[in-house]
Amino acid sequence: MEDADYMSAASLQKKETSTSSGIEGRLLPETTVGNVFVQNPRISTRGVNVFYGDKQALVNVTVDIAEKEVIAFIGPSGCGKSTLLRSLNRMNDTIDSCRLEGQVLLDEQDIYDKSVDVVGLRARVGMVFQKANPFPKSIFENVAYGPKIHGLAENKTDLNNIVESSLTRAGIWDELKDRLDQPGTGLSGGQQQRLCIARAIAVNPEVILMDEPCSALDPIATAKIEELIAELRSEYTIVIVTHSMQQAARVSDRTAYFHLGKLVEVGKTKELFINPVHELTQDYITGRFG
Ligand SMILES: Nc1ncnc2c1ncn2[C@@H]1O[C@H](COP(=O)(O)OP(=O)(O)O)[C@@H](O)[C@H]1O
Ligand SMILES: [Mg+2]
Repeated sequence: MEDADYMSAASLQKKETSTSSGIEGRLLPETTVGNVFVQNPRISTRGVNVFYGDKQALVNVTVDIAEKEVIAFIGPSGCGKSTLLRSLNRMNDTIDSCRLEGQVLLDEQDIYDKSVDVVGLRARVGMVFQKANPFPKSIFENVAYGPKIHGLAENKTDLNNIVESSLTRAGIWDELKDRLDQPGTGLSGGQQQRLCIARAIAVNPEVILMDEPCSALDPIATAKIEELIAELRSEYTIVIVTHSMQQAARVSDRTAYFHLGKLVEVGKTKELFINPVHELTQDYITGRFG
């Protein structure tokens, strides 16, 4: 994309109330380094601040997430990756002390608008968690539940088809088709995580949020999830939080680097890893902290 396609992030970001703070002698940037805007945004955050009580966890985060891209959120523990991810489908609403300022737009609609149906929103912007969390129900019911409550199936045949296609897209139909009535919780960790991805897919989401989906998995199960992401990217916009830079490099088109609640730098994954601009990004990528 041409540089002219992007506006300066500075022009849209609100004036900071606090000045840059030094970390190990380095300065956090006033505004994000790199192109935060894209031509075809699916989700856009604008000046997002998130607080837990008095504590600010995100500071003035402005970034676009493009249609059908995989974007990785990376950065040291506690920098706000999960907080931003959860703000993209209002999962933070479930935390009493949590408050958000600014805007999060899904297809140009403010998802925090009073008129927005949160249950519907979370179907459009699905989520997969760090620890696989199948319902204590059968494999079939895990996938069928969402389509049922959202009225996506007219009859039993429809529902069967949705379950089969979701498990197929999640790459576990062949493994599970003969034991759909067994509990989802009885599967291996990697299978449970793919079941949770099938559950998210079953309600036709536009965006899938994944918060460190492989951190509890062994390398083989991790590789399977990464293969799955590579397949899903043709149909969905995917936001993945990962503490593994190798994983970010393998699966994502763009990478966003966070530090102490700020989006320090964002760019094409290859460029950001080969040629990080900000000193903090450089330090993190070269393993000086994290
Ligand atoms: N439920 C919560 N209540 C209070 N503080 C929280 C909560 N969740 C996260 N935080 C704080 O917000 C900051 C960002 O956390 P988080 O988004 O979980 O970071 P990351 O995912 O990058 O490790 C941290 O300082 C963390 O302690
Ligand atoms: Mg986290």
